[in-house]
Amino acid sequence: MGFFSKDIKTLDDLFVHTLRDIYYAEKQIEKALPKMIDKATDPQLKAGFEKHLDQTKGHIERVKQVFELHGVKAKQINCPAIDGILEEADDVSGDVDDKEVLDAALIASAQAVEHYEMTRYGTLIAWAKQLGRSDCANVLAKNLKEEQATDRKLTEMAESKINLQAAE
Ligand SMILES: [Fe+2]
Ligand SMILES: [Fe+2]
Repeated sequence: MGFFSKDIKTLDDLFVHTLRDIYYAEKQIEKALPKMIDKATDPQLKAGFEKHLDQTKGHIERVKQVFELHGVKAKQINCPAIDGILEEADDVSGDVDDKEVLDAALIASAQAVEHYEMTRYGTLIAWAKQLGRSDCANVLAKNLKEEQATDRKLTEMAESKINLQAAE
């Protein structure tokens, strides 16, 4: 279904469409994270990915909760954007030989994922508020907060350690 296909008529339709997009994205991220955990060498990075896998399972539950609050079916729709980000992450990490450079590559890929999630949740929260669904907005805001915290933590790890090791 194209983003501007004709079954999206109202802001409410667009909200539901985008909720189904992030639902698909979160499920793909849940599948991709174990591979990133396997590839990471730095113990702190590995632990960070493990923690975010747990959080991601919670994100999926919260998105389901929003479907329920909004009274629509929990359904996934393909999101080529997240597929592309995850595919590129896999390609790049497959091409990196040095373990420490690989950790830097994994952080960069993970941050691309976090930023995708942040843009989606930011939009969904704004639309939920506009639609008078502050209940949905509040649940979505919990996911956004965890994505932002993860992104910040990755920056911190990269700048304080991983990039330095990769440059050695
Ligand atoms: Fe997430
Ligand atoms: Fe995330």
